[in-house]
Amino acid sequence: MAAAPTAPPTMRAVQYDAYGGGAAGLKHVEVPVPSPNKNELLLKLEAAAINPVDWKLQQGLLRPLLPRKFPFIPGTDVAGVVVAVGSCVTGFQAGDHVVAMLNSLYGGGLAEYAVASESLTIKRPPEISAAEGAGLPVAAGTALQALRAIGAKFDGTGKPLNVLITAASGGVGLYAVQLARLAGLHITATCGARNMQLVRSLGADEVLDYRTPEGASLKSPSGKKYDYVVHCAVGISWSTFEPVLSESGKVIDLTPNFAAILKSTLHRVTFARKQLVPLLLSPNKADLEFLVGLLRNGKMKSLIDSSFPLSNVMKAWEKSIEGHATGKIIVEM
Ligand SMILES: NC(=O)c1ccc[n+]([C@@H]2O[C@H](COP(=O)([O-])OP(=O)(O)OC[C@H]3O[C@@H](n4cnc5c(N)ncnc54)[C@H](OP(=O)(O)O)[C@@H]3O)[C@@H](O)[C@H]2O)c1
Repeated sequence: MAAAPTAPPTMRAVQYDAYGGGAAGLKHVEVPVPSPNKNELLLKLEAAAINPVDWKLQQGLLRPLLPRKFPFIPGTDVAGVVVAVGSCVTGFQAGDHVVAMLNSLYGGGLAEYAVASESLTIKRPPEISAAEGAGLPVAAGTALQALRAIGAKFDGTGKPLNVLITAASGGVGLYAVQLARLAGLHITATCGARNMQLVRSLGADEVLDYRTPEGASLKSPSGKKYDYVVHCAVGISWSTFEPVLSESGKVIDLTPNFAAILKSTLHRVTFARKQLVPLLLSPNKADLEFLVGLLRNGKMKSLIDSSFPLSNVMKAWEKSIEGHATGKIIVEM
């Protein structure tokens, strides 16, 4: 067995020290390696995934709540090797390969080392690469929770619902399509023309090119109305969804803006049959275990759009902001 790595006093990291600035606002720095608290693990990182929320926080999405303070090392979704464990950690030891979701308040993923809570860390089996594991926490976790919210059962024992998945080629969408297929749902998906074949191959029954008038209307080619929409795109109004929903169809909105929150509140208080329902990821270890299990058993894949070394993280950041990734954007340490 390879010896567990030991940590040096300082590490390379990428941070920003103010809101705004995009990729140019990121700085390469040398900072002290963090120390784990009693329930935490110190990880030598192998890979981190970038999620849109990482650069949206930099843009000020949750200003002034997040980031808690500057400078801030972004990134929550990581895979690495345990270097040291806090005094109360019981389930891990130095040398374990893991996948973790770091605390969103503190970030820390774009660095050579990071501390992760034991409660959001799981072991990574050798069949799963660091990049494949790092892709999971936010993107697959959100896809899983959105599908659970509509009653999907991943052993195929649930109802055969009609679902629409928007932005099915993105980080969240590609996991959502695969999970919906496992649940035996009838899937209509939207994506760009270049990804239609991929999305079909992962389980979509019908695929719409979102840049065509038919795609923009969201109408299923077979005329089916949707029981649920897993909405991963932005900028689609309720008036587009409303006519394509079944009588009590719901849109699970993963990208709710202020207007969507008002609309969903109105739907709730008026007991509307068709509803817009915002959903935010609630990270938990059981879901991460479940998702790693699906990768290990070959029931789901992490599709990697591109990988960048930490030294070229600006390119990864720009690529995520551009919004045209097919699957996950990974930074390798
Ligand atoms: N609620 C939550 O807790 C939560 C959690 C995770 C993510 N999110 C949000 O969910 C959204 C999706 O995240 P992600 O990681 O999947 O993003 P992503 O990977 O950046 O998505 C990029 C993909 O979306 C496609 N796309 C863009 N606009 C589209 C449209 N109108 N119709 C169909 N496809 C479209 C693009 O296709 P082309 O390249 O062909 O344009 C590209 O393949 C983000 O806004 C993110 O912030 C929310």
